[in-house]
This record gives sequence, C-alpha cells and structure tokens, in this order.
Amino acid sequence: MFTPIPVLDAHAQRYLVAHRIARMTTVNAAGRPSIVPICYATDGQMIYSALDAKPKRVPPSALRRVRNILANPVVALVVDDYAEAWGDLTHLIVCGTASLIAPGTIEHERAIALLRDKYPQYAAMLIEAQPVIAIQPEAAHFWASSLDTDEIGAEPPRYLDFDALVRGRRSVRAFRPDPIPRALIERVLDAARWAPSPHGRLPWRFAVITRPAVKARLADAMGDTWQATLAMDNEPSAVVAQRLAHSHVRIRDAPVLILLCLYTADLDHYPDPDRQAAETTMAIQSLGAAAQTLLLTAYRLGLDGGWMCAPLFCPDTVRDALDLPAALVPHALMPLGYAAKDPKRRPRMSLDDLVVRWE
Ligand SMILES: Cc1cc2nc3c(=O)[nH]c(=O)nc-3n(C[C@H](O)[C@H](O)[C@H](O)COP(=O)(O)O)c2cc1C
Repeated sequence: MFTPIPVLDAHAQRYLVAHRIARMTTVNAAGRPSIVPICYATDGQMIYSALDAKPKRVPPSALRRVRNILANPVVALVVDDYAEAWGDLTHLIVCGTASLIAPGTIEHERAIALLRDKYPQYAAMLIEAQPVIAIQPEAAHFWASSLDTDEIGAEPPRYLDFDALVRGRRSVRAFRPDPIPRALIERVLDAARWAPSPHGRLPWRFAVITRPAVKARLADAMGDTWQATLAMDNEPSAVVAQRLAHSHVRIRDAPVLILLCLYTADLDHYPDPDRQAAETTMAIQSLGAAAQTLLLTAYRLGLDGGWMCAPLFCPDTVRDALDLPAALVPHALMPLGYAAKDPKRRPRMSLDDLVVRWE
C-alpha cells in the first residue's frame, strides 16, 4: 500500500494553520513564473486553495494560476512573518505539485470544508461550484532568524496576529519543568521596556529568579508571612494549609519567576500629598502596562505566565528574601514557563456592559 511520507512536519503544519495568507508561484509551459497571494487550508498532508469569488478580471478557468498549473504542475509557496525585530523573522517555503480537483469529489468536499473552517468569509461564497487547487507538498523548509541562536525553547513561538495574541494570552498556574532559555527571558524583559510610563521614566524594575534555592527561600518566606495573616482572618486551618501549599508549589515549581517592583525615585516629587499620590498611582498603572507587555511577549514566544499579587501583601518579606534595595517595592510576581495544560478561561463582560457612555 502506498503511504505518503509526510513532508509537513508538526511545526510546518502549525505554522501553516496559524497563518492566513501564502504567496504561490506557478510557472507556464515556457518556465515564466507568476505569483499570487492565496488563502489556503491544510489537512496536514495537502494544501488547498479555492478559486473564489474575490474580484477577478477573468473567469476562474482562465486565471493564470489555473492555466499555468495545467501546463506545468510545479508550484512553490512562501508563508512568512516580517518583524522590525529581525530576530523574529520567519518563513516557510513549500514546493510541490498542484492539480485541480473537480467539484463533486470527496476530496473537493473535504477541501471546501477545510477552507470554510479556516475562513468564515467562505461561508457566504459559492466556492463549491469551482475546482479547488490541491498542492501535494514535496519539500518544506522552515527558516527562523533565531534558529542559530540559543532562543529555541521547548515550544515554538505562537505565530499569531495581534488580535489572536491578545485574546489567547491566559493566566497559567502550573508549568512543565522545561527550562526557559535565557535569551527568551531577555526578550520578554526587553519588550516590557516599551510599555508606556509617566514622563517616560519607567518606574519599575525586574528581579529574575531561576535558581531553585532562591525560589524555595522566597516561597518559604512568603508562606510564613501569609500564614500569619490568614490566621488573622480566622480561616479553618485545613483551608489555610491548602492555600499555603498551593502558593508554595506555584512559586517553587515555576521555571522562572519575574518580580515586578515599583520604583518611584525617578518620578516627579510634589510638596502636597494629593499630587504625590497621583504620581504614585501613575507609576502603578505603568507597572500594569509593563506586566501586560511582558505577558503578551511571553505568550508570543510560546511561553505562558501567571500573575501573583502576593508580594503586595508582604513587600518587606519579598525584598528581604531576595536582598533587594530599599527603593524597590515588590508588586507582582509573574511565574513563567510552558503550560502543563490549557487553563480554563474566564468569560469577559460584553462591551455593552463595559462602555458606559459613547456619544
Ligand atoms: C493585579 C492583578 C493581580 C492578580 N493576582 C493574582 C493572584 O494573586 N493569583 C492568581 O492566580 N491570579 C492573579 N491574577 C490573574 C487573574 O486572576 C486573571 O488575569 C483573571 O482571572 C483572568 O484570567 P486570564 O488572565 O486567564 O484571562 C491577577 C491579575 C491582576 C491583573
């Protein structure tokens, strides 16, 4: 029995699934190339593209790509990401043989279903009436400019557009033990520098903790303080013990902890307490922006993060455990790593509830 050798490995498949546009080159009988952007879908083996109803000057059967494929079935596709940070440049090139699948066949039906699944716009287009271009990949080559560096983590980056990154970022509270390459941690922190801040003064500093002994020391110290405060709330001792154990594990087992500290020394100073308080509030708001930038970047790089507010409740304990300068106020502890499993997401309120006035 003929078993096709999968040319598209898991990484190439994920890359194709995550992207929405490819550039396809076809050649005519004389070898003259022609290139078009195409929407496509893949089942992991084949790549399909519809002859759809986007405006065209000629009927589908007269399209150059169709005439070329009939004359010479050799095609090549490129799917790519451009980024001003050239360390993020990536592309996938797929070479293969194309054919036209006629309507009424099972493969045509499957291809239409895959395309409609990927592009909701096709629900309202009569793409099933036309043949589908089917590309049998014969070679695939993935390139990332960071491939020859030490930035390769346990998971590939998430090649998602901005909307998908914003919606996809999630709070993860349990991680696999896989370490995070130092270069990835640096990229996460580097991105956070670009968060907005009052007067552009960046009123926050980061402490990075990767050493198990330091994580354990921090978890122990925070646990002791928390135990004392929970006792004040008259919580049942079993509940206290469980919450303490859970928080201890979260801190101890995260591959990397990033502590965001408020640093207000460079901000403006006012003689009156009201303006001084507003200045501090601005700094805290900015720390939140830095935290979100950090989490989104981590997510983009294939990582996940959490957000622990516990340092707010015991800043002195955290500062002492990590031997930090007195000018830093520990605010948020972000455990980073590769998610042990997909977490449940909390639903969001609708815009109708959130936008209180629009005139
Ligand atoms: C200021 C702040 C403090 C938070 N503190 C904690 C915390 O101590 N422990 C925790 O598990 N999650 C904490 N979170 C995460 C939220 O619970 C989480 O963002 C929210 O449930 C929405 O889930 P999502 O991040 O998966 O979208 C905190 C988030 C923020 C913004």
